[in-house]
Amino acid sequence: MPNAIIFGATSGIGKQLVGHLVKDGYKVAITGRRQELLEAIKETHLHSVSTYKHDVQDLEASVSAFNAIVSELKTIDLVIHSSGVGYENPKLEWEKEYDTIQTNVLGATRIYDLTFNLFKAQGFGHLAAISSIASLRGNRESPAYFASKAYQVNYLESLYFKTKEVKGGKVHITDIRPGFVDTKMALGDGIFWMASLEKATRQIYNAIKRKKRRVYISKRWNLIALVLKVAPSWLIKKVM
Ligand SMILES: NC(=O)c1ccc[n+]([C@@H]2O[C@H](COP(=O)([O-])OP(=O)(O)OC[C@H]3O[C@@H](n4cnc5c(N)ncnc54)[C@H](OP(=O)(O)O)[C@@H]3O)[C@@H](O)[C@H]2O)c1
Repeated sequence: MPNAIIFGATSGIGKQLVGHLVKDGYKVAITGRRQELLEAIKETHLHSVSTYKHDVQDLEASVSAFNAIVSELKTIDLVIHSSGVGYENPKLEWEKEYDTIQTNVLGATRIYDLTFNLFKAQGFGHLAAISSIASLRGNRESPAYFASKAYQVNYLESLYFKTKEVKGGKVHITDIRPGFVDTKMALGDGIFWMASLEKATRQIYNAIKRKKRRVYISKRWNLIALVLKVAPSWLIKKVM
């Protein structure tokens, strides 16, 4: 039976992925801060799911939670990192920028590193992390969120490069870059091409199963990515 951990499984994409994994025979450790939501998911998947209440901002607690999960499951085949926060913050309120950096940068890095080091020791494993199309450029409404996603994407690429330190080619890194997905995280007024949670998660899970290096969700966001990569800053400043 394969084993997985989902960080940020209490709602949205992470929660939706639990069902896909359980259906495919995984034993899944799920995490998040909201205990009652963890319990509710466990009730649905009684024998396949174990719960770990955990705040990724507490970096020491991340180590304890990670080690406790590894003690329980012994080996880990797949880690999905879906924890994240984002705010519209046009006035640059510090609490919102700080919360975003603590969660999406420091919190994420701790989980990425614990995961990579475990996979290196095991000689196998797959880290699939939800970053965002927001990683590609800056944004005047949500600077910390867009910058944090750029950080995640570059960190994940570094881990991909580091997989060459592990003999056998059995450590994989997948960077998942959604556009808008219908969860409470979808930011802003100018929302378009919003994918339903079901469709987005189906495409995300397919990409994970195929061990893709990176993927835009839904597929049409490949087009936006192409434009964002070449558009000059002055043009983006004018239209966004
Ligand atoms: N929805 C979109 O349009 C969209 C687009 C691009 C990228 N994304 C990315 O997709 C990922 C999942 O977001 P979502 O759309 O599924 O939104 P969501 O429903 O708000 O899910 C966010 C998850 O992150 C967890 N989380 C937040 N802060 C945490 C903390 N300090 N410690 C532990 N867990 C924490 C939440 O659990 P608790 O609150 O229980 O802790 C929740 O399970 C995020 O990284 C987001 O940036 C979303």
